[in-house]
Amino acid sequence: MIGEPRKIEFISELQSLIEQRRSIRKYKSDDVPKELIEKIIQAGLWAPSGKNLQNWRFVVVTGSKRDAYLKYSQRSWANIKVILEKKLKPSLYEFTERFFYTLGNAPVIIFCLSKNDPNEKYLTSVGSVYMALQNMILTAEAHGLGTCPMGAPLEIGEEVKNFLGKDVTAGLELLCAVTVGYPDHAPPAAPRQTEGRVTWLES
Ligand SMILES: Cc1cc2nc3c(=O)[nH]c(=O)nc-3n(C[C@H](O)[C@H](O)[C@H](O)COP(=O)(O)O)c2cc1C
Repeated sequence: MIGEPRKIEFISELQSLIEQRRSIRKYKSDDVPKELIEKIIQAGLWAPSGKNLQNWRFVVVTGSKRDAYLKYSQRSWANIKVILEKKLKPSLYEFTERFFYTLGNAPVIIFCLSKNDPNEKYLTSVGSVYMALQNMILTAEAHGLGTCPMGAPLEIGEEVKNFLGKDVTAGLELLCAVTVGYPDHAPPAAPRQTEGRVTWLES
C-alpha cells in the first residue's frame, strides 16, 4: 500500500545494514560471481538522478586487468601518503599503504564515471553518481560482500582514464572507484560525529 511502512523486521535489518557496513581493505581470494556483480550494478541503476539523466557510467575491472591496475593504485598513493603520514598512527598508516599496494586483494574494482550534461548542474550530476554508488555498496553488503569507495584514482585521473581505455572513457569524468570482494577482516566502526552536523530550523 502507498505510504505504508515496511515491517518492523525489515526496517531494523535495513538500519543494521547501514550501520554495520564498513570500508573493507582486506579481501578473501574468492571470486565474486558475475551475476552478483550484475545485481550490484542493477541496484545502482535504480538510484535517483537529476532530471533522470542516469548520467552514471561504470567500468568493471577484474582478472589480469585488475592486476594491472595495482601499478596505478600504488602511484595514486604518492600524494595521499604525505597527508596520512601525519594523520594516522604508524600501524594504521602501514595498513593503509598496504591497501594501496594490493587493494587488499579485492577481485573486483568498479570505476564510477559521470557523463556531465550542459543542461544539468555539475554537482547534481556528481551527486547522482554517488547515489548509485551507495545503492551498490549497500546491496553488496546485503550479499555478504565488502566494499571500499576510493577517491584515490583521482590523484592520477587522466592516467586512470587512459588505463580504462580512451574509447570507454571519452567525454566522461572519473569520480571514484569501489573495490568489491568477500571481506577478510572486520574493522571497528569509524567514529561518527553529530556535533554541528545538523541544524534544525523550527518556528
Ligand atoms: C568519496 C569517498 C572517497 C574515499 N576514498 C578512499 C580512498 O581513496 N582510500 C581508502 O582507503 N578509503 C577511502 N574512502 C573510505 C573512507 O575512508 C571511509 O568511508 C571512512 O573512513 C569511514 O569509514 P567506514 O566506511 O568504514 O564507515 C572513501 C570514502 C568516500 C565516501
